[in-house]
Amino acid sequence: MRIRILGVGMGPQHVTPEVADALRGCDYVLAVEKTSDDRLLAARRTIAERFGVEVVAVPDPDRDRADPADYPRAVAAWHEARVAAYEQVLRAREGTVAFLVWGDPSLYDSTIRLVEQLAQRLPIEYDVLPGVSAPQLLAARHRIVLHAVGEPVHVTTARRLRGAIAAGQKNVCVMLTGSLDLAGLEDWSIWWGANLGTDSERLVAGRVGDVLPVLLAGRDEAKAAAGWVMDVYLLRAPS
Ligand SMILES: C[S@@+](CC[C@H](N)C(=O)[O-])C[C@H]1O[C@@H](n2cnc3c(N)ncnc32)[C@H](O)[C@@H]1O
Repeated sequence: MRIRILGVGMGPQHVTPEVADALRGCDYVLAVEKTSDDRLLAARRTIAERFGVEVVAVPDPDRDRADPADYPRAVAAWHEARVAAYEQVLRAREGTVAFLVWGDPSLYDSTIRLVEQLAQRLPIEYDVLPGVSAPQLLAARHRIVLHAVGEPVHVTTARRLRGAIAAGQKNVCVMLTGSLDLAGLEDWSIWWGANLGTDSERLVAGRVGDVLPVLLAGRDEAKAAAGWVMDVYLLRAPS
């Protein structure tokens, strides 16, 4: 049994020749279906169809979001349920299976961890091929380097942004953005992008205090145009 974890970037236009070759050699794509109108599943179907590969979708197990204090345990239980759902399909079908990962598998994605768990239960070989991540596409769209010369960039989630700033981070790339709370950061610079790589893409850059209203309007526009919004941004402290 072989599993290929394939980064597909922000859509079919980012599927690299390496990923395309791997996908052509797969017997099916295994994916979760989060809702009856799962847009990321639709994107995976579009890519799989392009390469003539069938998609087997399993319903995403429910995730207990009631108690955020117990977030790690809730996520672990949800992962365990996903692994069980995948295992059932893998036991029933032969061949090489692909997981199509939005962006790159190395950033805020559980597929590698889930496959590691599957590999403890089944005789599986697996590999990972990279894709274009949201921070990479953000940097390309704004024609920037994510950090100043020789400096670091800190990648984190909106939930951890305040902690990162309190710890002295001055150049922060934020993913899983939730609601945008940038109070107190008016003098920082921001490079922001929503729905990158799609028709509803929006970009804004400037001093936070100056561009925040335009950015929030852009977020609403992206959501209205696509029915969903995902955004990512780089924040840099004033020098
Ligand atoms: C679950 S993470 C997946 C990240 C992905 N593995 C990657 O390499 O970018 C989802 C987050 O990535 C960012 N993201 C994903 N797709 C995006 C897009 N098309 N435009 C802007 N941000 C995006 C958003 O911050 C979103 O909350």
